[in-house]
Amino acid sequence: MSEGKINFTRDYDKTNEMFVDIEKSRSIWPGEINQKKLIKTLTTKCFDEPFYLYDQIELENRIKTFFKYFKKNKSNRFVAYAIKANPHNAILNTLATNGINSFDCASPMEIVTIQKIFQDQNLSPPTIFYNHPEKSVSDIKESIKRGVHHFTTDTIFEVDRIFSELQSGKEYEIVVRISPKLTVKSEAQIALSEKFGATIEKGKEIIEHIDKATKQSGMKVNIGVSTHIGSQNFRPDIHCAYIEEIVKVIKETDKKITVFNYGGGIPVNQFKGQKENMEILENYLSELDKISTNLIEPLLGENGKIIIEPGRGMVCTCIDLMIPISRKRKRDGKYYLWMRDGIFTSFSDYTIHKWKFPFEAMKKSGKKLRSRKVNFTLFGRTSHEKDFVENVFLPRRTKEGHYLWVSNAGAYHSAQASYFESHPVHRYVIYRREEELAYKQRLVQFFKRLLGKIQFWNNNIQF
Ligand SMILES: Cc1ncc(COP(=O)(O)O)c(C=O)c1O
Repeated sequence: MSEGKINFTRDYDKTNEMFVDIEKSRSIWPGEINQKKLIKTLTTKCFDEPFYLYDQIELENRIKTFFKYFKKNKSNRFVAYAIKANPHNAILNTLATNGINSFDCASPMEIVTIQKIFQDQNLSPPTIFYNHPEKSVSDIKESIKRGVHHFTTDTIFEVDRIFSELQSGKEYEIVVRISPKLTVKSEAQIALSEKFGATIEKGKEIIEHIDKATKQSGMKVNIGVSTHIGSQNFRPDIHCAYIEEIVKVIKETDKKITVFNYGGGIPVNQFKGQKENMEILENYLSELDKISTNLIEPLLGENGKIIIEPGRGMVCTCIDLMIPISRKRKRDGKYYLWMRDGIFTSFSDYTIHKWKFPFEAMKKSGKKLRSRKVNFTLFGRTSHEKDFVENVFLPRRTKEGHYLWVSNAGAYHSAQASYFESHPVHRYVIYRREEELAYKQRLVQFFKRLLGKIQFWNNNIQF
C-alpha cells in the first residue's frame, strides 16, 4: 500500500491483500473511521469485486481468550492453530505476532508456509504438529527434512512408514488418533470420526506397536493419544465425555502416554455476533481447562503435553464477506440474484453440508436493507448449472448494484475456494478498529459526563 492510499490494482495472486492502515488512510477517510465508512469506500472503489473484510482486532481478542481461558501461561498446554481453516498470510501473520507458535498442519505445504511466516518475522521456528492421519512416504520425508517431530496416525501400517523415516539421535512424538463409540452421540455438525480414528481396541494395539518399534529401533519416541469430536460441536460436555473415554485407554495400557490432543471442534454460531460468540468460546474453554486440571494433567504427569487445535473457533468471526450483486430476475413468481461468488469460491459448504449462511443485503453505502423478505435463489458467478445457493431470505427490493454481506466468513470459506473458470480470488482487506472503538468510548464518556451535569443541575438549581 502506498502512503495514504489503498492499492486497487487487481492481480490473480492468492495472497492478494490490501492493508488498510487507519493512520495512513486519513486522506481517504477524514474524521473518525468506522466499519460502515470503510465499506462505503471499498464498495465504491472496488465497484464489482467481492472482498473479505478482515477485522484484525477480533482475531487478537480471540487469541487472548484462548490464552486466558485455556493456556493460562502453562508450558504444557498448546494452542495449535489448524491452518486448514484459513491459511491466508494476513491471518498467519497476526497469529505469529500475537504469541501463537504451534500449528496443526495437514500437508507439507502448510508446514512450509508457516515456517516461512516465522522466518520472515524473525521469530524462532514454530512447533509443528503434523496431524493428518494419512500421509504419503514423500509427505513424511519432506516433513522430517523440515524438522517436524510430531506425527499423528491411526494405523499400524503408517506407524511403520513413519519409523522407517525417523532420524537417529532425535526425539519424536507419535500420537494415536482414537474415535471412541459413545452412548451420547457427538452433536458436531461435521463428523470426523467416521473417516479417521482407530477404535479403542485398535488404538491400544497401535500404542503397543509404537512401544515395540521404539524399543527395537533404539529411537526416542514418546507416545500420545488424540481425538477429534468433529467440527461445530456446540456441546463442550460431549467433548469432555470423548476425552474421558480415551482416558480409559491411557489407564488400561501400561505404556507411558505423554501427549493428549483434544483436536478442534470449538464452534461458532454463524448467525450470532462477535460478543455472543466470545461467550460461547469462554464457556467452552473453561470446560476444557477444568478437565485438563482435574483429570488429564495428573494422568500425563510432569512432562505431559495437552494440545487443542482450533480452526474455526480461532478465525471464523474475524472476517465479513462483501459480494456484489450483478443481476436480478423475477420469473414465475420466483426471485433470483446473480452474485460474484458461489459454491466454487466461498460457499462450498452449501453443497457439501447444505449449510445455511447469514446472508444480508446492503447498499453500496454499507447500509443494510430492511424491508419485507422473500425467498431468493442466488446464482454463482461460474457457468456451472449447480452453482447456486437456494432459500436465502432477503429484502424483496434487493437488486443489482447492491451487495450481499456475510458475517463470520473467516473459516473454510476462502480456504476451500477453487480456481474453477479462473475467476479472480477475492481480496483481503485488513483493518484495525482501534479508532472506532476509541471513538465509541469517547462518546460514552461524553454522555456520562453530560448525564452527571444534568443530575447536578437537577439537584442544585431551584426554580
Ligand atoms: C486434525 C484436525 N485438527 C483440527 C481441525 C480443526 O477443526 P475445527 O475447524 O472444527 O476447529 C481439523 C478439521 O478438520 C482436523 O482435521
